[in-house]
Amino acid sequence: MTPPRPAELYARALEERSIFVRREDGGRRSVPIDTWLAPPTAADRRVLDRAVGPVLDVGCGPGRHALALARREVAAVGVDIAPAAIRRARDRGARVLLASVFDPLPGAGQWQTALLLDGNIGIGGRPVPLLGRVRSLLAPGGRILCELGRPGSATRCELIALEDAEGVRSTWFAWARVSVDGLPPMAERARLEIDEIWESGSRWFAQLSSASEGRGLTLNRRCRTAPPPPVPEWPATTAAVAASAPRSSPPRPRRPAARTAARSARSLPS
Ligand SMILES: C[S@@+](CC[C@H](N)C(=O)[O-])C[C@H]1O[C@@H](n2cnc3c(N)ncnc32)[C@H](O)[C@@H]1O
Repeated sequence: MTPPRPAELYARALEERSIFVRREDGGRRSVPIDTWLAPPTAADRRVLDRAVGPVLDVGCGPGRHALALARREVAAVGVDIAPAAIRRARDRGARVLLASVFDPLPGAGQWQTALLLDGNIGIGGRPVPLLGRVRSLLAPGGRILCELGRPGSATRCELIALEDAEGVRSTWFAWARVSVDGLPPMAERARLEIDEIWESGSRWFAQLSSASEGRGLTLNRRCRTAPPPPVPEWPATTAAVAASAPRSSPPRPRRPAARTAARSARSLPS
């Protein structure tokens, strides 16, 4: 029998809340679906404090970070390749796109912040091209907020599969793990500076930004505080991409509330 695609098991897991990651070496761990469906933790909220809108949440899953940002009136869009995750995120009220981060995306070069949280620096199994791709989506002076493995943990690319409680396993796909120690050479190759690395609630995070010409890698540089330039209105193109995702409930309004737009004085890139 042909193994199911990861997206099929992921869709079931969002309903049944039980799914595992199987590694090539035979190891297995459970996927924290409940965490993805729960409100952000204190550590998440502290990372989100650094997010300047408009924010692109890469690999948003069911949308907890994009949603939390919207509730703070920070313009945010999630992007994910899993239709079921996008449906769930939209049902919860998050603004999302069904697409891969490597697809053409609206607002390239205009996002002030990109999130790569909860292991998403591993998307695609090649962190340097991923970081380079995400950098290319950022506005000048934009930042990436990413989550890392603790110091001393492995930095490696691996093949993984999703597996349900009955042992039904998906096709294998590439993923990467990047520890705090593994980040600097990758950031340098992706032409990113590490602004800061911090621990929060036993999790590790970094803030990265585009390296300026002629400047080497720096650690623990203070975060910039200059306000970002205004960006164009929430676009028809983004709405069109969002509309292409299958829906399980009526679509939510995609334009930011007038109050939100007025308060943030900023909207989403086209
Ligand atoms: C570890 S989960 C993170 C979920 C979410 N960020 C959270 O913390 O609640 C990784 C997510 O990345 C998505 N993903 C995998 N490859 C992707 C790609 N190429 N582009 C966009 N999303 C991708 C998966 O579908 C999945 O929802």
